Amino acid sequence: MSAAHTQERQMSSDGNPYRPWPARITSILDLTEKEKLFELRIIDPEIREAFQFHAGQFVEVSIFGVGEAPISISSAPSKQGFIELCVRNAGDVTGALHKKRCGDVVGLRGPLGRGFPFEAMKGNDVLLVAGGLGIAPLKSLINHIHDERHEFGKVTIMYGARNPSEVLFRYQFDMWRHRDDFNLMLTVDESDDAWDGEVGLVTKLFEKIDVDPDNTYGAVCGPPVMYEFVIAEMRKKNMDVDKIYMSFERRMKCGIGKCGHCGVGHQYACIDGPVFSYWEAMNLQGAI
Ligand SMILES: Cc1cc2nc3c(=O)[nH]c(=O)nc-3n(C[C@H](O)[C@H](O)[C@H](O)COP(=O)(O)OP(=O)(O)OC[C@H]3O[C@@H](n4cnc5c(N)ncnc54)[C@H](O)[C@@H]3O)c2cc1C
Ligand code: FES
Repeated sequence: MSAAHTQERQMSSDGNPYRPWPARITSILDLTEKEKLFELRIIDPEIREAFQFHAGQFVEVSIFGVGEAPISISSAPSKQGFIELCVRNAGDVTGALHKKRCGDVVGLRGPLGRGFPFEAMKGNDVLLVAGGLGIAPLKSLINHIHDERHEFGKVTIMYGARNPSEVLFRYQFDMWRHRDDFNLMLTVDESDDAWDGEVGLVTKLFEKIDVDPDNTYGAVCGPPVMYEFVIAEMRKKNMDVDKIYMSFERRMKCGIGKCGHCGVGHQYACIDGPVFSYWEAMNLQGAI
């Protein structure tokens, strides 16, 4: 079923795709100075149960009286009944969300967009590359792979942040770095005395890995400047253009293909993406 059909099916309960569902904040974790992790539960039990999503999809979060913002789902689809959102305090909506407390109610629309091709990735190695806040959607995919680890070959995670204080999900990485079925590689642009990982851009980590090009899917998410360089490294490893997937951020309003704000070439990032294959992106003007 296509993402658009999933959306129609899930939003048709009251026929209005713009109406958000009330959701309660059930946990808030400070990740860094700018980012918090929110756990949300849709209040209506039937809608909560019917809420199924794919890694890489997003929701529109609304703060009543302020507005809406698209935010990627960070938790794994295999964990049901709640979603996690990693939110940077970047402006009006996210700033208002950062002021909320546990028990407060916000609005949610979604799940929206097209996520990563999880089923197609099964049976293959996976190379996940994130920069900065780009780890938010990739964490959903990583956690989903974790929950079905036996379905995948080698799993390599490369994550770059500007400095150690900006590394997100440290608690999770501390867990994964001790496992031998995840090859976790962290790097920062500028280190401090306490940092024991790599220093340099995330692309530097490619020197340290071998890739089986016929059997590896790539997933990339980060600041726009990162894509060109990461993809160049993946192509040097002979990875197929249609096995490299990336998530794009575009300014969005409706999130459901109606307003035209999120055009990428002749497509809309909100329904045709935000996850595109590199092959698709190559054929979309202005995508990269
Ligand atoms: C698919 C998708 C997934 C995303 N996932 C996440 C996520 O997981 N976590 C997360 O924190 N963010 C995520 N974002 C980014 C988030 O949606 C934006 O930061 C959003 O703008 C925040 O809304 P706001 O009202 O808080 O900020 P805004 O008030 O919109 O301000 C955000 C920034 O944009 C600038 N700005 C505002 N309006 C304009 C304009 N018209 N032109 C240029 N600049 C402008 C502001 O000055 C500010 O720097 C995602 C975006 C997309 C499209
Ligand atoms: S956000 Fe309205 S068409 Fe994509």
